[in-house]
Amino acid sequence: MNNTISTDASSKRHPITDRFADMPAGPFARLNALLAPLTPSGDPVLLSLGEPKHPVPDFVAPILAQHIDDFGRYPPIMGTVGFRDAVKSWLIRRFDLPIEALDADHHIMPVNGTREALFNLPLVASPPEKNGKQPLVLMPNPFYQCYAAGALAAGAKPVYVSATDASNHLPDFAGLPEDTLNQTSMVYACSPANPQGAVMSLEDLQILITLARQHHFVLAVDECYADIYDKTPPASALQACLSLPTPPNGDPFSNVVVFHSLSKRSSLPGLRSGFIAGDKALMTKVRAFRNIAAPQTPLPLLAVATAAWNDDAHAAENRKLYQQKIDLAESILGNQFNFYRPAGGFFLWLNVGDGLAATQKLWEQGALKVLPGAYLARDDENGHNPSKEYIRVALVQDIATTRTALTQIADILGS
Ligand SMILES: Cc1ncc(COP(=O)(O)O)c(C=O)c1O
Repeated sequence: MNNTISTDASSKRHPITDRFADMPAGPFARLNALLAPLTPSGDPVLLSLGEPKHPVPDFVAPILAQHIDDFGRYPPIMGTVGFRDAVKSWLIRRFDLPIEALDADHHIMPVNGTREALFNLPLVASPPEKNGKQPLVLMPNPFYQCYAAGALAAGAKPVYVSATDASNHLPDFAGLPEDTLNQTSMVYACSPANPQGAVMSLEDLQILITLARQHHFVLAVDECYADIYDKTPPASALQACLSLPTPPNGDPFSNVVVFHSLSKRSSLPGLRSGFIAGDKALMTKVRAFRNIAAPQTPLPLLAVATAAWNDDAHAAENRKLYQQKIDLAESILGNQFNFYRPAGGFFLWLNVGDGLAATQKLWEQGALKVLPGAYLARDDENGHNPSKEYIRVALVQDIATTRTALTQIADILGS
Protein backbone atom coordinates (compact mmCIF):
# COMPACT_ATOMS: atom_id res chain seq x y z
CA MET A 1 0.00 0.00 0.00
CA ASN A 2 1.20 3.48 -0.86
CA ASN A 3 2.28 5.45 2.17
CA THR A 4 1.51 8.95 1.00
CA ILE A 5 -1.70 10.78 0.21
CA SER A 6 -0.48 11.84 -3.25
CA THR A 7 -0.69 8.68 -5.33
CA ASP A 8 -0.56 8.70 -9.11
CA ALA A 9 1.42 10.74 -11.60
CA SER A 10 -1.62 12.82 -12.58
CA SER A 11 -1.68 14.43 -9.11
CA LYS A 12 1.57 16.18 -10.06
CA ARG A 13 -0.46 18.33 -12.46
CA HIS A 14 -2.59 19.58 -9.57
CA PRO A 15 -0.84 22.09 -7.35
CA ILE A 16 -3.58 21.87 -4.73
CA THR A 17 -3.20 18.12 -4.18
CA ASP A 18 0.58 18.54 -4.28
CA ARG A 19 0.23 20.53 -1.09
CA PHE A 20 -0.27 17.19 0.67
CA ALA A 21 2.32 15.28 -1.32
CA ASP A 22 4.64 14.71 1.64
CA MET A 23 1.87 13.80 4.03
CA PRO A 24 1.95 10.13 5.01
CA ALA A 25 -1.25 8.10 4.88
CA GLY A 26 -3.22 8.13 8.14
CA PRO A 27 -1.90 6.05 11.05
CA PHE A 28 -4.75 3.55 10.86
CA ALA A 29 -4.33 2.95 7.13
CA ARG A 30 -0.63 2.33 7.75
CA LEU A 31 -1.45 0.03 10.65
CA ASN A 32 -3.83 -2.02 8.50
CA ALA A 33 -1.12 -2.32 5.84
CA LEU A 34 1.44 -3.40 8.43
CA LEU A 35 -0.82 -6.13 9.81
CA ALA A 36 -2.45 -7.28 6.54
CA PRO A 37 0.11 -10.01 5.77
CA LEU A 38 -0.16 -11.43 9.31
CA THR A 39 -2.80 -13.67 10.86
CA PRO A 40 -4.15 -12.69 14.28
CA SER A 41 -4.20 -15.50 16.82
CA GLY A 42 -7.94 -15.11 17.53
CA ASP A 43 -10.77 -12.56 17.59
CA PRO A 44 -9.18 -9.09 17.32
CA VAL A 45 -9.24 -6.75 20.32
CA LEU A 46 -9.01 -3.11 19.24
CA LEU A 47 -6.71 -0.97 21.37
CA SER A 48 -5.52 1.15 18.47
CA LEU A 49 -8.25 3.73 17.89
CA GLY A 50 -9.05 6.33 20.58
CA GLU A 51 -12.75 5.52 20.28
CA PRO A 52 -14.38 5.22 23.70
CA LYS A 53 -16.41 2.03 24.08
CA HIS A 54 -18.13 2.96 27.34
CA PRO A 55 -21.94 3.00 27.16
CA VAL A 56 -23.70 5.94 25.52
CA PRO A 57 -25.23 8.03 28.37
CA ASP A 58 -28.91 7.31 29.14
CA PHE A 59 -30.12 10.82 28.42
CA VAL A 60 -29.10 10.70 24.75
CA ALA A 61 -31.96 8.66 23.24
CA PRO A 62 -34.93 10.53 24.80
CA ILE A 63 -33.50 13.95 23.94
CA LEU A 64 -32.80 12.88 20.39
CA ALA A 65 -36.34 11.54 20.05
CA GLN A 66 -37.80 14.73 21.48
CA HIS A 67 -35.95 16.87 18.90
CA ILE A 68 -36.38 14.59 15.90
CA ASP A 69 -38.38 17.17 13.91
CA ASP A 70 -35.42 19.53 14.02
CA PHE A 71 -33.69 17.35 11.45
CA GLY A 72 -36.04 19.21 9.09
CA ARG A 73 -34.18 22.50 9.65
CA TYR A 74 -30.78 23.80 8.66
CA PRO A 75 -28.87 24.44 11.87
CA PRO A 76 -27.34 27.88 12.46
CA ILE A 77 -23.54 27.91 12.49
CA MET A 78 -23.53 29.41 16.00
CA GLY A 79 -25.79 26.67 17.31
CA THR A 80 -28.39 27.55 19.93
CA VAL A 81 -28.41 29.93 22.89
CA GLY A 82 -29.00 26.90 25.13
CA PHE A 83 -25.90 25.17 23.80
CA ARG A 84 -23.64 28.20 24.21
CA ASP A 85 -24.97 28.84 27.72
CA ALA A 86 -24.39 25.20 28.70
CA VAL A 87 -20.81 25.40 27.44
CA LYS A 88 -20.26 28.68 29.24
CA SER A 89 -21.58 27.23 32.52
CA TRP A 90 -19.38 24.14 32.13
CA LEU A 91 -16.27 26.25 31.46
CA ILE A 92 -17.02 28.33 34.54
CA ARG A 93 -17.59 25.24 36.74
CA ARG A 94 -14.80 23.11 35.39
CA PHE A 95 -12.07 25.75 35.23
CA ASP A 96 -13.25 28.00 38.02
CA LEU A 97 -13.57 31.02 35.70
CA PRO A 98 -15.29 34.20 36.90
CA ILE A 99 -18.83 34.35 35.56
CA GLU A 100 -18.28 37.65 33.76
CA ALA A 101 -15.17 36.43 31.90
CA LEU A 102 -16.99 34.74 29.04
CA ASP A 103 -19.43 36.17 26.56
CA ALA A 104 -21.34 33.13 25.32
CA ASP A 105 -22.28 34.79 22.02
CA HIS A 106 -18.81 35.98 21.07
CA HIS A 107 -16.27 33.70 22.75
CA ILE A 108 -17.94 30.31 22.13
CA MET A 109 -18.88 28.42 18.96
CA PRO A 110 -20.08 24.83 18.33
CA VAL A 111 -18.06 22.62 16.01
CA ASN A 112 -18.86 19.36 14.30
CA GLY A 113 -16.31 17.44 16.37
CA THR A 114 -13.02 19.13 17.09
CA ARG A 115 -11.22 17.44 14.21
CA GLU A 116 -12.78 19.63 11.53
CA ALA A 117 -12.25 22.73 13.66
CA LEU A 118 -8.58 21.93 14.31
CA PHE A 119 -8.15 21.44 10.57
CA ASN A 120 -10.06 24.57 9.61
CA LEU A 121 -8.58 27.06 12.07
CA PRO A 122 -5.33 27.77 10.16
CA LEU A 123 -7.36 28.67 7.07
CA VAL A 124 -8.48 31.71 9.06
CA ALA A 125 -5.71 32.15 11.60
CA SER A 126 -2.61 31.65 9.45
CA PRO A 127 -2.00 34.43 6.90
CA PRO A 128 -0.36 33.76 3.50
CA GLU A 129 2.87 35.37 4.77
CA LYS A 130 4.42 36.17 8.13
CA ASN A 131 7.15 38.83 8.14
CA GLY A 132 7.56 38.35 4.37
CA LYS A 133 8.02 34.57 4.54
CA GLN A 134 5.96 31.39 4.38
CA PRO A 135 4.42 31.06 7.86
CA LEU A 136 5.33 28.22 10.17
CA VAL A 137 2.77 26.25 12.13
CA LEU A 138 4.36 24.56 15.14
CA MET A 139 3.06 21.33 16.63
CA PRO A 140 4.26 18.65 19.01
CA ASN A 141 5.89 15.49 17.71
CA PRO A 142 4.19 12.96 18.13
CA PHE A 143 0.82 14.61 17.46
CA TYR A 144 -2.81 14.27 16.36
CA GLN A 145 -2.32 14.04 12.61
CA CYS A 146 -4.96 16.54 11.56
CA TYR A 147 -2.78 19.45 12.80
CA ALA A 148 -0.33 18.88 9.92
CA ALA A 149 -3.14 18.66 7.37
CA GLY A 150 -4.52 22.00 8.60
CA ALA A 151 -1.14 23.70 8.36
CA LEU A 152 -0.54 22.38 4.84
CA ALA A 153 -4.05 23.32 3.69
CA ALA A 154 -3.39 26.91 4.78
CA GLY A 155 -0.10 27.00 2.79
CA ALA A 156 1.99 27.09 5.98
CA LYS A 157 4.97 24.90 6.79
CA PRO A 158 4.43 22.44 9.65
CA VAL A 159 7.28 22.36 12.15
CA TYR A 160 7.38 19.26 14.38
CA VAL A 161 8.76 19.92 17.84
CA SER A 162 9.82 16.76 19.65
CA ALA A 163 7.99 15.84 22.85
CA THR A 164 9.98 12.95 24.34
CA ASP A 165 10.58 11.58 27.82
CA ALA A 166 13.58 13.92 28.00
CA SER A 167 11.15 16.88 27.87
CA ASN A 168 8.46 15.24 30.04
CA HIS A 169 6.61 14.44 26.83
CA LEU A 170 5.85 18.12 26.17
CA PRO A 171 7.28 20.20 23.30
CA ASP A 172 9.61 23.05 24.23
CA PHE A 173 8.17 25.76 21.96
CA ALA A 174 9.70 28.52 24.07
CA GLY A 175 13.18 27.12 23.45
CA LEU A 176 12.93 27.60 19.67
CA PRO A 177 15.09 30.24 17.96
CA GLU A 178 13.70 33.79 17.85
CA ASP A 179 13.61 33.72 14.03
CA THR A 180 11.42 30.62 14.06
CA LEU A 181 8.99 32.18 16.53
CA ASN A 182 8.81 35.39 14.49
CA GLN A 183 7.85 33.37 11.41
CA THR A 184 5.25 31.38 13.30
CA SER A 185 1.59 32.08 12.55
CA MET A 186 0.05 29.35 14.70
CA VAL A 187 0.96 26.81 17.35
CA TYR A 188 -0.98 23.65 18.15
CA ALA A 189 -0.58 22.47 21.71
CA CYS A 190 -2.34 19.42 23.15
CA SER A 191 -3.02 19.05 26.86
CA PRO A 192 -3.69 16.37 28.03
CA ALA A 193 -1.51 15.18 25.18
CA ASN A 194 -2.42 12.44 22.78
CA PRO A 195 -0.56 10.06 22.82
CA GLN A 196 1.58 10.58 25.93
CA GLY A 197 -1.02 11.85 28.43
CA ALA A 198 1.29 14.68 29.53
CA VAL A 199 -0.46 17.75 30.93
CA MET A 200 0.70 21.35 30.66
CA SER A 201 0.75 23.19 33.98
CA LEU A 202 -0.87 26.59 34.39
CA GLU A 203 2.63 28.04 34.25
CA ASP A 204 3.48 26.16 31.00
CA LEU A 205 0.31 27.62 29.51
CA GLN A 206 1.09 31.14 30.74
CA ILE A 207 4.55 30.96 29.12
CA LEU A 208 3.08 29.82 25.82
CA ILE A 209 0.36 32.46 25.82
CA THR A 210 2.91 35.16 26.56
CA LEU A 211 5.03 33.85 23.69
CA ALA A 212 2.00 33.97 21.37
CA ARG A 213 1.40 37.61 22.24
CA GLN A 214 5.06 38.58 21.93
CA HIS A 215 5.48 36.89 18.56
CA HIS A 216 1.96 37.54 17.23
CA PHE A 217 0.81 34.01 16.58
CA VAL A 218 -2.41 32.17 17.39
CA LEU A 219 -2.21 29.50 20.06
CA ALA A 220 -4.64 26.62 19.47
CA VAL A 221 -4.86 24.42 22.54
CA ASP A 222 -6.47 21.03 21.98
CA GLU A 223 -8.02 20.22 25.37
CA CYS A 224 -10.35 17.46 24.23
CA TYR A 225 -9.15 15.05 26.97
CA ALA A 226 -9.55 17.68 29.73
CA ASP A 227 -12.17 15.66 31.65
CA ILE A 228 -10.28 12.35 31.50
CA TYR A 229 -7.55 12.65 34.11
CA ASP A 230 -5.84 10.59 36.77
CA LYS A 231 -5.53 12.66 39.96
CA THR A 232 -5.59 16.40 39.21
CA PRO A 233 -7.98 18.15 36.79
CA PRO A 234 -5.85 19.60 33.98
CA ALA A 235 -5.84 23.40 33.64
CA SER A 236 -7.21 25.18 30.57
CA ALA A 237 -5.46 27.85 28.54
CA LEU A 238 -8.54 30.00 29.28
CA GLN A 239 -7.66 29.84 32.98
CA ALA A 240 -4.08 30.75 32.18
CA CYS A 241 -5.29 33.74 30.13
CA LEU A 242 -7.21 35.07 33.11
CA SER A 243 -4.16 34.76 35.35
CA LEU A 244 -2.17 37.04 33.02
CA PRO A 245 -2.58 40.80 32.61
CA THR A 246 -5.37 41.58 30.13
CA PRO A 247 -3.88 42.77 26.81
CA PRO A 248 -4.52 46.43 25.75
CA ASN A 249 -7.40 45.37 23.42
CA GLY A 250 -9.40 44.38 26.52
CA ASP A 251 -9.91 40.74 25.53
CA PRO A 252 -8.34 38.44 28.14
CA PHE A 253 -8.37 35.56 25.63
CA SER A 254 -6.40 37.39 22.92
CA ASN A 255 -4.36 35.06 20.67
CA VAL A 256 -5.83 31.92 22.26
CA VAL A 257 -8.41 29.35 21.14
CA VAL A 258 -9.25 26.14 23.01
CA PHE A 259 -10.93 23.01 21.63
CA HIS A 260 -13.26 20.76 23.63
CA SER A 261 -15.21 17.70 22.61
CA LEU A 262 -17.90 15.33 23.85
CA SER A 263 -16.22 12.42 22.08
CA LYS A 264 -14.02 11.54 25.04
CA ARG A 265 -15.71 13.33 27.96
CA SER A 266 -19.12 11.76 27.32
CA SER A 267 -18.12 8.70 25.27
CA LEU A 268 -19.98 10.17 22.30
CA PRO A 269 -17.50 10.07 19.40
CA GLY A 270 -20.33 9.46 16.94
CA LEU A 271 -22.23 12.58 18.02
CA ARG A 272 -19.55 14.72 16.33
CA SER A 273 -19.95 17.57 18.74
CA GLY A 274 -17.51 19.92 20.37
CA PHE A 275 -16.84 23.61 20.70
CA ILE A 276 -14.13 26.18 20.36
CA ALA A 277 -13.71 29.17 22.67
CA GLY A 278 -11.34 32.09 22.88
CA ASP A 279 -10.10 35.28 21.21
CA LYS A 280 -13.11 37.44 20.36
CA ALA A 281 -11.74 39.11 17.23
CA LEU A 282 -10.52 35.82 15.83
CA MET A 283 -13.87 34.19 16.64
CA THR A 284 -15.61 36.86 14.59
CA LYS A 285 -13.43 35.94 11.61
CA VAL A 286 -13.86 32.23 12.23
CA ARG A 287 -17.62 32.72 12.43
CA ALA A 288 -17.68 34.50 9.06
CA PHE A 289 -15.59 31.73 7.50
CA ARG A 290 -17.57 28.92 9.11
CA ASN A 291 -20.83 30.55 8.03
CA ILE A 292 -19.81 29.93 4.43
CA ALA A 293 -17.64 26.86 4.56
CA ALA A 294 -17.95 24.74 7.70
CA PRO A 295 -20.30 21.92 8.68
CA GLN A 296 -22.97 22.93 11.19
CA THR A 297 -23.99 20.69 14.07
CA PRO A 298 -27.54 19.34 13.51
CA LEU A 299 -30.06 20.78 16.01
CA PRO A 300 -31.11 17.44 17.60
CA LEU A 301 -27.43 16.70 18.25
CA LEU A 302 -26.95 20.17 19.74
CA ALA A 303 -29.84 19.40 22.12
CA VAL A 304 -28.03 16.24 23.25
CA ALA A 305 -24.77 18.17 23.53
CA THR A 306 -26.47 20.84 25.65
CA ALA A 307 -27.62 18.17 28.12
CA ALA A 308 -24.15 16.61 28.15
CA TRP A 309 -22.35 19.88 28.99
CA ASN A 310 -24.96 20.55 31.68
CA ASP A 311 -24.26 17.24 33.41
CA ASP A 312 -21.00 16.36 35.17
CA ALA A 313 -22.12 13.10 36.79
CA HIS A 314 -21.83 10.94 33.66
CA ALA A 315 -18.42 12.45 32.90
CA ALA A 316 -17.24 11.60 36.43
CA GLU A 317 -18.45 8.00 36.00
CA ASN A 318 -16.65 7.80 32.71
CA ARG A 319 -13.43 9.15 34.24
CA LYS A 320 -13.66 6.60 37.07
CA LEU A 321 -13.75 3.74 34.57
CA TYR A 322 -10.53 5.00 32.96
CA GLN A 323 -8.89 5.45 36.35
CA GLN A 324 -9.72 1.81 37.19
CA LYS A 325 -8.11 0.70 33.94
CA ILE A 326 -4.97 2.75 34.65
CA ASP A 327 -4.85 1.06 38.11
CA LEU A 328 -5.06 -2.29 36.36
CA ALA A 329 -2.30 -1.31 33.94
CA GLU A 330 -0.09 -0.25 36.80
CA SER A 331 -0.61 -3.51 38.66
CA ILE A 332 -0.13 -5.71 35.57
CA LEU A 333 2.66 -3.87 33.75
CA GLY A 334 4.45 -2.58 36.86
CA ASN A 335 7.54 -0.72 35.74
CA GLN A 336 7.97 -2.66 32.51
CA PHE A 337 8.16 -0.73 29.21
CA ASN A 338 8.80 2.52 31.13
CA PHE A 339 5.17 2.41 32.27
CA TYR A 340 3.91 5.60 33.92
CA ARG A 341 0.40 6.67 34.88
CA PRO A 342 -0.72 9.20 32.24
CA ALA A 343 -1.80 12.43 33.97
CA GLY A 344 -4.61 12.78 31.44
CA GLY A 345 -6.29 10.96 28.56
CA PHE A 346 -6.74 7.21 28.21
CA PHE A 347 -3.64 6.03 26.38
CA LEU A 348 -0.68 4.03 27.62
CA TRP A 349 2.53 5.12 25.93
CA LEU A 350 4.84 2.18 26.30
CA ASN A 351 8.50 2.05 25.37
CA VAL A 352 8.85 -1.43 23.89
CA GLY A 353 12.16 -0.91 22.04
CA ASP A 354 10.79 -1.38 18.52
CA GLY A 355 7.17 -0.21 18.19
CA LEU A 356 6.57 -1.75 14.75
CA ALA A 357 7.90 -5.17 15.72
CA ALA A 358 5.94 -5.14 19.00
CA THR A 359 2.73 -4.22 17.15
CA GLN A 360 3.18 -7.15 14.78
CA LYS A 361 3.99 -9.52 17.62
CA LEU A 362 0.92 -8.50 19.65
CA TRP A 363 -1.28 -9.06 16.62
CA GLU A 364 0.16 -12.45 15.71
CA GLN A 365 0.42 -13.82 19.23
CA GLY A 366 -2.49 -12.11 21.03
CA ALA A 367 -4.81 -10.68 18.31
CA LEU A 368 -4.26 -7.31 20.00
CA LYS A 369 -4.33 -4.26 17.74
CA VAL A 370 -2.22 -1.41 19.08
CA LEU A 371 -0.69 1.57 17.27
CA PRO A 372 3.05 1.93 16.63
CA GLY A 373 4.21 5.28 18.02
CA ALA A 374 6.15 5.93 14.82
CA TYR A 375 2.90 6.44 12.90
CA LEU A 376 2.04 9.44 15.10
CA ALA A 377 5.36 11.24 14.60
CA ARG A 378 7.57 12.61 11.82
CA ASP A 379 11.30 12.19 11.46
CA ASP A 380 13.29 15.02 13.02
CA GLU A 381 16.04 16.91 11.18
CA ASN A 382 18.43 14.00 11.83
CA GLY A 383 16.04 11.49 10.26
CA HIS A 384 15.12 10.11 13.69
CA ASN A 385 11.51 9.29 14.52
CA PRO A 386 11.16 10.26 18.21
CA SER A 387 8.33 7.75 18.80
CA LYS A 388 9.64 4.65 17.06
CA GLU A 389 10.37 2.84 20.33
CA TYR A 390 6.77 3.24 21.50
CA ILE A 391 3.36 1.71 21.11
CA ARG A 392 0.12 3.48 22.01
CA VAL A 393 -2.48 1.38 23.81
CA ALA A 394 -5.97 2.90 23.96
CA LEU A 395 -7.74 1.81 27.16
CA VAL A 396 -11.14 2.07 25.54
CA GLN A 397 -12.49 -1.46 26.10
CA ASP A 398 -14.39 -2.68 29.18
CA ILE A 399 -12.52 -3.64 32.34
CA ALA A 400 -12.54 -7.41 31.75
CA THR A 401 -11.29 -7.11 28.17
CA THR A 402 -8.67 -4.60 29.27
CA ARG A 403 -7.41 -6.89 32.07
CA THR A 404 -6.96 -9.80 29.65
CA ALA A 405 -5.31 -7.61 27.04
CA LEU A 406 -2.84 -6.04 29.48
CA THR A 407 -1.88 -9.47 30.83
CA GLN A 408 -1.26 -10.62 27.26
CA ILE A 409 0.87 -7.53 26.55
CA ALA A 410 3.01 -8.26 29.61
CA ASP A 411 3.35 -11.94 28.62
CA ILE A 412 4.01 -11.46 24.92
CA LEU A 413 6.36 -8.49 25.09
CA GLY A 414 7.93 -9.38 28.41
CA SER A 415 9.14 -12.73 27.13
C1 LIG B 1 -5.84 14.97 20.48
C2 LIG B 1 -7.13 14.88 19.75
N1 LIG B 1 -7.70 16.00 19.31
C3 LIG B 1 -8.86 15.99 18.66
C4 LIG B 1 -9.51 14.80 18.40
C5 LIG B 1 -10.79 14.85 17.60
O1 LIG B 1 -11.87 14.52 18.34
P1 LIG B 1 -13.36 14.82 17.85
O2 LIG B 1 -13.29 15.27 16.40
O3 LIG B 1 -14.06 13.55 18.01
O4 LIG B 1 -13.85 15.94 18.72
C6 LIG B 1 -8.97 13.59 18.82
C7 LIG B 1 -9.65 12.33 18.53
O5 LIG B 1 -9.13 11.26 18.67
C8 LIG B 1 -7.74 13.63 19.53
O6 LIG B 1 -7.16 12.52 19.98
